[in-house]
Amino acid sequence: KSAPVDLTLDVSKPGAKIDRQIFGQFAEHLGEGIYGGIWVGKDSTIPNTRGIRNDVVAALKELKVPNVRWPGGCFADEYHWRRGVGKDRIASMNANWGGVIEPNTFGTDEFFDFAQQIGTEAYVSVNVGSGTPAEAAEWLEYMTADKANGIGAERAKNGHEKPYKVAYLGLGNESWDCGGAMTPDFYVDQMKLHARFDRNYNPEQTMSRIAVGPSGGDTPYTEAVMKAWKDHSWAWNIEGLSLHSYTTGGGFPVSQKSEGFSEKDYAVVLKDTLGMEDLVTKHSAIMDKYDPEKKIALVVDEWGAWYAATPGTNPGFLMQKNTQRDAVLSALNLNIFARHADRVRMANIAQMINVLQAMILTDKDKMLLTPTYHVFHMYVPFQDATFIPVAYDAGTYTHDGITLPRVDAIAARDKSGKVWVAITNIDPSKPATFNLSAAGLKASKATGQTLSAPKFDSANTYDKPNTVSPKPISAKASGGRFAITVAPASVTVVSLEP
Ligand code: AHR
Repeated sequence: KSAPVDLTLDVSKPGAKIDRQIFGQFAEHLGEGIYGGIWVGKDSTIPNTRGIRNDVVAALKELKVPNVRWPGGCFADEYHWRRGVGKDRIASMNANWGGVIEPNTFGTDEFFDFAQQIGTEAYVSVNVGSGTPAEAAEWLEYMTADKANGIGAERAKNGHEKPYKVAYLGLGNESWDCGGAMTPDFYVDQMKLHARFDRNYNPEQTMSRIAVGPSGGDTPYTEAVMKAWKDHSWAWNIEGLSLHSYTTGGGFPVSQKSEGFSEKDYAVVLKDTLGMEDLVTKHSAIMDKYDPEKKIALVVDEWGAWYAATPGTNPGFLMQKNTQRDAVLSALNLNIFARHADRVRMANIAQMINVLQAMILTDKDKMLLTPTYHVFHMYVPFQDATFIPVAYDAGTYTHDGITLPRVDAIAARDKSGKVWVAITNIDPSKPATFNLSAAGLKASKATGQTLSAPKFDSANTYDKPNTVSPKPISAKASGGRFAITVAPASVTVVSLEP
């Protein structure tokens, strides 16, 4: 048995708003991320609306997805948008991901239809690597211009009279690697061209431009982009800097198994994921140098677990299982983003469906929700809530010489005034009891949901889709405290009620 954790909320010192955009998703033309996962085509026997699967749309609506990043990833820097609009689509090779044929049947108009069906904002990444600023500028015109304005007319002819809303624009992707292996200075020059010429013509929507930033702990892109921004002229601007960091538990090429792993692997992977704290702190410090007013958001637009591909699948499709470990991993990262809410104002887990740490897996007409999905669902109340500082002694969990904090927690107050607490028990073999108190808050009961599993590598399957699914949890106040006991390797979210 482990000692109880005294968890104290300080409701008198509210922090920054936890921007709902940190719960963003990423959908790349990769494996079955789009084809099969979202798009099945209008003639499919799988129930769909204009080719987009109804079951997936219904599940995503529950998550209140704030934004979806599309079309890549590495795919974005080889994407030519004209091949994916109008009646005659031009198929091309998806050279990054499995060398398969990309039919381009899911293009710009289908993406915006999907975004509208799930009720999310569009985060479109333009092709900086192999495209030209002119091609990207014309794409923006297609998406955002009035039908009376140039290429806006083409969109109208394709059946979409009203301009689309592009809330976020990615100026390239991983330009230090698959996006063209550019030096920071070369990238900065390309970035300026796109920040200048990729115009948003839709007056109903402001568009934030997100520049390529660092890979993990590398700082040259952070320095170069932020320095350029500090000296920017009237002619161009950016609003965000991207950070990509995957949890692999051992670097690339990836080797960790996504299921059937040992407790040591559990500890190694979670220790690795906690490194996000240092990365965010390090890049925020550089950003503070150039931007003390925190105008530029740090956008962690690729994060999550990347394991060895499920045996028997195309390694280029990045298919992996999703277990209770991934539930814990996602809660730990979301907590880190929430603690840095003043600078981290957007993030996109990789990826939404069938790829890497997915929310949803599909197999033809079947669909299942992963443990990661359930965490995102349980965290919905934290969207746009105000951070509340918490104090606790996390203690330690040690296995095979690897030491991690035993527990993790955040709290926030939503717009209606309700206070929410998220607690994670990292220890996979011992339950944890939290003695929760919040001076100055009149609360008599804590109610919510807890996500635990028979084993730390338990997953949901098409035959048993509810092995890992949230269960109700509640506690009554006694002496101004709530005693909440949670299972090993679990994630719990409760609200404090009068
Ligand atoms: O998410 C898979 C890939 O990882 C993306 O395409 C790329 O940006 C990153 O390297």
